[in-house]
Amino acid sequence: MKPFWFGAGQGSNAGVLVRLGAIGAVMLSVAGVFAYVGGWLSPVRLTQDRMMAAFQDDNGTHAGFRRNHAKGVCVTGWFESSGQAAALSKAAVFRPGRVPVVGRFALAGGMPFQTDAPATVRSMALRFLLPGGEEWRTGMNNIPVFPVNSARGFYEQLLASSPDPVTGKPDPVRMKAFLAAHPETVRALPLIKKRQITSGFANSTFNSLNAFRFVDAAGASVPVRWSTVPVQPFAADSAEPSAAGDKNYLFDDLIAQIAQHPRQWRLIVTIGQADDPTNDATLPWPAVNYDPLVLPSGIEPSDDSLLSARSAAYARSFTLRAEEEHEKPPSAVTAQEVQAGGKS
Ligand code: HEM
Repeated sequence: MKPFWFGAGQGSNAGVLVRLGAIGAVMLSVAGVFAYVGGWLSPVRLTQDRMMAAFQDDNGTHAGFRRNHAKGVCVTGWFESSGQAAALSKAAVFRPGRVPVVGRFALAGGMPFQTDAPATVRSMALRFLLPGGEEWRTGMNNIPVFPVNSARGFYEQLLASSPDPVTGKPDPVRMKAFLAAHPETVRALPLIKKRQITSGFANSTFNSLNAFRFVDAAGASVPVRWSTVPVQPFAADSAEPSAAGDKNYLFDDLIAQIAQHPRQWRLIVTIGQADDPTNDATLPWPAVNYDPLVLPSGIEPSDDSLLSARSAAYARSFTLRAEEEHEKPPSAVTAQEVQAGGKS
């Protein structure tokens, strides 16, 4: 918007009137937007206030705390870029070198005093402080996919989870109705449930879940999701004795561990393929698709038409099996990870 586009009339009364007229029009439309966002014009529209009210109905009101991920602890550290993502994204954060990071580990849910429990969703939020005052902020969860794929779905899930005033528990009838209306949640929940839960924050993997786009210096972009993968070794949840009795055991362990030594995660970027969904966080991206057209520079496809047919078929198969992941039985052959020396 150019506020002084009528410059020829500036200084004259007519000009002032035109200017005020223009400002008035902008003000009105802004007031209209406020009314719209506030939900005053439509009782069924999902608004910020309604979303916040739904959080409060589920969790109670806890003044001053986040409405979600309320129980958390802040950390500081740094990100050391290997430079490997610089070809995909021109973001300064990916140039080789170190930038300071402020982070927060938290548990999902709006209860700031909830007891730590293994199955509660854990989160890692990071603020990368880039040169020149730029910031990259990302919040990640330790689940493979998100249970809903829209704000409306999130809201309806909150409503369905709100405690019944009589029983103090969510009403199973409402939850059933929610699931009937949200097949994407029905597909996602088994994936979330079967994730491997580790002993603490420090050995959890956190995922962006939403897709983003990395833009390179020439303006070309690719869809990506990212994860922070712990350098700390895996240990199953029950492995840590401190779980017993300490209602803050996850946070206390993390603080004790960081006090001993900085904890470390690798930022892993997953590049989406043509058919990978970028608008649906309930769907995983399969880890491997042997598409014959994914080639490094130095190898190029021939004029064999089978190659593009394979590429299209593999992409579709890839999406189908991603969507069916929840109903997949165990594979015929499974193997334990084998370490050098033959011991598993
Ligand atoms: C429509 C969907 C969503 C809604 C309404 C929602 C809502 C919220 C709210 C209200 C907060 C507290 C913000 C604050 O006071 O600072 C929060 C925090 C958070 N959310 Fe979401 N969220 C949604 C989707 C997601 C998704 C897809 C992720 C993916 C990883 C995510 C990850 C997080 C994390 C990590 C935090 C904690 C950030 C911190 O520690 O400060 N959320 N969310």
